[in-house]
Amino acid sequence: MKLWYSPASPFVRKCLLVARERDLFDRLELLEASTTVINPNERLMEDNPTGKIPALVLDDGTVLFDSRVICAYLDSLHDGKKLMPRSGDKRFKIMTLEALADNIMDSAVANRYERGLRPPEYQWSDWSEGLMRKVRNGIDHIEKEWVPTLGRTPNMGSIAVASLLGYLDFRYPDWNWRRGHPKLTRWFKRFSERDSFTATAPE
Ligand code: BEZ
Repeated sequence: MKLWYSPASPFVRKCLLVARERDLFDRLELLEASTTVINPNERLMEDNPTGKIPALVLDDGTVLFDSRVICAYLDSLHDGKKLMPRSGDKRFKIMTLEALADNIMDSAVANRYERGLRPPEYQWSDWSEGLMRKVRNGIDHIEKEWVPTLGRTPNMGSIAVASLLGYLDFRYPDWNWRRGHPKLTRWFKRFSERDSFTATAPE
C-alpha cells in the first residue's frame, strides 16, 4: 500500500500512529507530497481529486481517503484489539471523539495556512482569531468531558487527540494549550512517551 503523506500533517500522523500501534507500518510505502491549494501536487490529484493528504493507494489501485477512512481500513487489517470498537455505545463515543479532534485540527491547520501562506495584506485577524477560538473551545471541551474516554491504552479517538496536541506543540509552540488543561496535559505526557508517537514526530 502506498500512503501519500507529509510529515507535518496531523491527519497523516493519525494514520501512521494506527499503523505503528498495530504493527502495519512495514506494509506502507510512503510517498511524500508537498501540496497546497495554490501549488497542488498533480500526481496526488490523480489519486485524490481534491489533492488532500493523506490518501492510501491499495495494491489493486483502489484509493482511500480521508484519514478517518484510512484509519478504519488499517484497523480492519489486524487481528489485535480494535482501536475502534465494532459496536455499541462505545463505538459512537469514540467516533465522536475522533471527529472532534479532526474538527479542531481542521481549524488549527486552516489558521496555519491563513498565517503562513496568505500574503500579509490579505490576512484577516478576526478570521484567524475565530479559528483559534474553535481550537481553544475544543480543547476546553476535551478537558471537561473526554479525558476518561482517552484512557490508558490507545483507541481511535485518543490517537486523533494525540495527533492534534502534537500538531499544536509543533505549529503553535508559544500558544500554550496546556494552560488550564491539567488532566489533558497529564494524559498527553504519558501518551507522548509511546514509541509510536516519538517515531512519528514531525521533522
Ligand atoms: C503544516 O505544515 O502545518 C501542514 C502540512 C500538511 C498538512 C497539514 C498541515
